[in-house]
Amino acid sequence: MIPQSFIQDLLARVDIVEVVERYLPLKKGGANYFACCPFHGEKSASFSVSPTKQFYHCFGCGAHGSAISFLMEYSGLGFIDAVKELASNVGMTVPDDDFTPNRDRAHEQSLTEVMAQAARFYKEQLKRSPVAVDYLKGRGLTGEIAARYGLGYAPEGWQSLQAAFADYSAGQLLECGLVLENEQARRYDRFRDRIMFPIQDQRGNVIGFGGRVLGKGEPKYLNSPETPIFEKGRELYGLVQARQAVRDHECVLVVEGYMDVVGLAQFGVGNAVATLGTAATPHHIQKLLRLTDRVVFCFDGDAAGRRAAGRALEVSLEHLADNKTITFLFLPEEHDPDSFVRSEGPDAFRAAMTRALPLAEFLLAELRKDIDLDTAEGCARLVHEAKPLVTRIAAPLLRLQVIKMLAEAAGFTQAEVEQSFGLKTNPPPRRFDPDNAFEGEGRRGNGNFRGRRGFGKELPRLAPRTAPLNPIETLLRLVVQHPVLAARMPIDLLPGDTPEGSALIAITDAMSVGDLPTHGVGALLEHYRDTPHAATLGRIAAQLADMPMDETVLEPLLNDTLYKLEATQVEQEFLALNAQAREGGLDPTGRRRLAELLVQKEKLKKRPKVSDS
Ligand code: UTP
Ligand code: MN
Repeated sequence: MIPQSFIQDLLARVDIVEVVERYLPLKKGGANYFACCPFHGEKSASFSVSPTKQFYHCFGCGAHGSAISFLMEYSGLGFIDAVKELASNVGMTVPDDDFTPNRDRAHEQSLTEVMAQAARFYKEQLKRSPVAVDYLKGRGLTGEIAARYGLGYAPEGWQSLQAAFADYSAGQLLECGLVLENEQARRYDRFRDRIMFPIQDQRGNVIGFGGRVLGKGEPKYLNSPETPIFEKGRELYGLVQARQAVRDHECVLVVEGYMDVVGLAQFGVGNAVATLGTAATPHHIQKLLRLTDRVVFCFDGDAAGRRAAGRALEVSLEHLADNKTITFLFLPEEHDPDSFVRSEGPDAFRAAMTRALPLAEFLLAELRKDIDLDTAEGCARLVHEAKPLVTRIAAPLLRLQVIKMLAEAAGFTQAEVEQSFGLKTNPPPRRFDPDNAFEGEGRRGNGNFRGRRGFGKELPRLAPRTAPLNPIETLLRLVVQHPVLAARMPIDLLPGDTPEGSALIAITDAMSVGDLPTHGVGALLEHYRDTPHAATLGRIAAQLADMPMDETVLEPLLNDTLYKLEATQVEQEFLALNAQAREGGLDPTGRRRLAELLVQKEKLKKRPKVSDS
């Protein structure tokens, strides 16, 4: 874990306007800065960045958060990586966390530099090799696309890299897997006479290579070994190049091969990435779902493709959310994505993408395969085999849908299937609470702020409210905006049984022990990331973004709200005791309390109410 104190120091040092400006052109308007929202397609600038609050918010799609969340959303980085990125911008070093013990960043940096050097060399060599250029041309690639993906050529010789590195015997070359050593400890290049596909991490550092033979030969692709900077199960080929297209199409396409990515890009299908000769891993799925809400897995139409799809399906289940879609596209048996787009064209490919099989349908089709649903045994077996998969679906509504489909297919009732899965049937209906309608399911585990996206689409955030704001919500807004006001919260009057009340209590407590960041809403949100209050505070903060609160109205509003809160509670207690008294059931303590309340009521009446004046 990165210590919270570090996060807070970092956010105090970083300016969110500078961070966002690195990626988006910002225009100043009043106290805030504006841009077209990078998280949903739009022409008007509804994305605002507040330098005073150190907070961004999009009125269109509801995206919001701190400088850290921005980097996470924009670059698809995980929390830790986003923190590291920000820290390196301001020259701070993230203290080593428990998850990555003994990582030597300076060393990793030196490996990255070696890889960059090699990539430059291979690229240069491609220009000098007519044979290699012809091969790429023969596969329909233009120089533009080759440059975009940084394609290169590793020459034929055994020690060509000697020309690229001053010290061919450097340890880093071996560690990066660029060279190998024979039994006599003589070094030679790993990649010889191959087309080189550099593999980049999310920041664009070259961390590995895939090298393809020019003609026939084994192995067809030779890959870099895993190194301290290259872990195959975490990386996706072509991610850096695909990012903008993924955003534009709000969809990422996952294919199997380097050439598929590059070939699709050649035909204008730029939102494709590839796993690196491995099945999709949970890391991949998480990375993809952080990037966008729609993932299309594309597999060859053969049995191997089907198997790979099955594995992708399995690892996806636990990372699903109800606002995410994962679909599976199976190509005709004779094709892979590269050959398909080449022979059928990009429009046909895109059309095929839209017809991809939704995860739920693919899951059911896989389960039903080889099962005879005309027999009782078959029906039982279907549900039996579905159980371990269906119960892993992390999206509650989708899981419900799958259960319904399953019940239908196997001739059971939904309740029967749920029962056999050990799931609760018919949860008691909950009272609908519009203020909490979107809480609850919110974030799971180490989730991030993306869960809140699209929120604005479902319920216009700024719609006129039918009921007046309740005082607790108002207090929370005030405190989120001005944490120092937490010192003035009437802790005894705060209800611990609502999300707003308990968030307010948490903030008040933190303030009283001096553990509350006071440099902006963004910092406050980070303080409560991964706590039960995160969703509530995020919602409140987003409501505030459009509400530049004048210092002059602050004090009266606070007083007024505190007054209302106290008055409501006094009134409620008074009414309750009074009713009891009329039934003759008051003990001496109760009578004393009733008298006290009467006095309090009188006092409150005399206190001027700001809103009435
Ligand atoms: P394919 O054999 O489907 O290759 O391998 P491809 O992408 O169609 O390549 P072309 O069109 O013949 O050039 C798919 C992926 O599997 C991994 C590579 O990542 C490749 O992109 N692979 C394949 C290897 O790592 N080694 C191999 O020898 C073959
Ligand atoms: Mn191919």
